[in-house]
Amino acid sequence: MNTPLLSTHGLVARYGDFQALYGIDFEIGKGEVVALIGANGAGKSTLLRSIIGLLRVAPEMVILDGRPVGGCRPHRMIADGVAIVPEGRRLFTGMSVEDNLRVAIDHARVTRNAAWTLEGIFALFPILREKRRVPVESLSGGQQQMVAIGRALLNQPRLLLCDEISLGLAPKVVREIYQSIPSISQSGTSIVLVEQDVGLAKSASDRLYCMLEGRTTLTGRSRDISREAIAEAYFGGSHALA
Ligand SMILES: Nc1ncnc2c1ncn2[C@@H]1O[C@H](COP(=O)(O)OP(=O)(O)OP(=O)(O)O)[C@@H](O)[C@H]1O
Ligand SMILES: [Mg+2]
Repeated sequence: MNTPLLSTHGLVARYGDFQALYGIDFEIGKGEVVALIGANGAGKSTLLRSIIGLLRVAPEMVILDGRPVGGCRPHRMIADGVAIVPEGRRLFTGMSVEDNLRVAIDHARVTRNAAWTLEGIFALFPILREKRRVPVESLSGGQQQMVAIGRALLNQPRLLLCDEISLGLAPKVVREIYQSIPSISQSGTSIVLVEQDVGLAKSASDRLYCMLEGRTTLTGRSRDISREAIAEAYFGGSHALA
């Protein structure tokens, strides 16, 4: 890879006395889709939170465009082109779909050409156009996830961090949401997909990292990684393949 868009170097993260990450080396290039898999508590969300600045880490542990940005606050990271679709979506209830999306437009300090517009989001997820006036809490879980993705895209990210966007959704809805991933990456936005569904993670990504107990246990091109290698990295060496 040429200079990565974003990389982490020996990234360690703590919650008080508890150390959650033990030296993560991660990188993602422009337009790349990278999946992050691993069991509950492996540290996937913590890695995303450390990148976006929700957890304080040392400056040189996160490099964006060759510049140390570790520990920068989330609003700075968003202005620098990193957006997150957080675990649990965090939409503004009591507001319409369109107003939820407009919040991002109003707050985006767009210095680059705006690649994503409200119309672009409606083209990506046509159901949201139909539901634009409806209170966001009356949408289905999948539709709410589309709003969360749309809102993140309206920050005009160069890097989109997605935390378990398929969680709790029916397979058909998961497919609909994952169909948007190629269009997003083709627009030049790199995507990190935290995903519990290993098959989905593998098929939707160019490269993959597996995490276990705060460390990366496997990385490589998604199409080259075997199911056996993933099983070993996912559960640790002592577990037999399920
Ligand atoms: N706010 C917090 N305070 C203390 N410990 C935390 C906090 N958030 C996460 N942890 C701990 O950090 C470790 C990593 O958690 P993290 O949420 O990053 O895992 P994850 O891989 O995203 O798991 P999941 O698949 O369940 O979302 C876990 O041991 C978890 O208990
Ligand atoms: Mg998580």
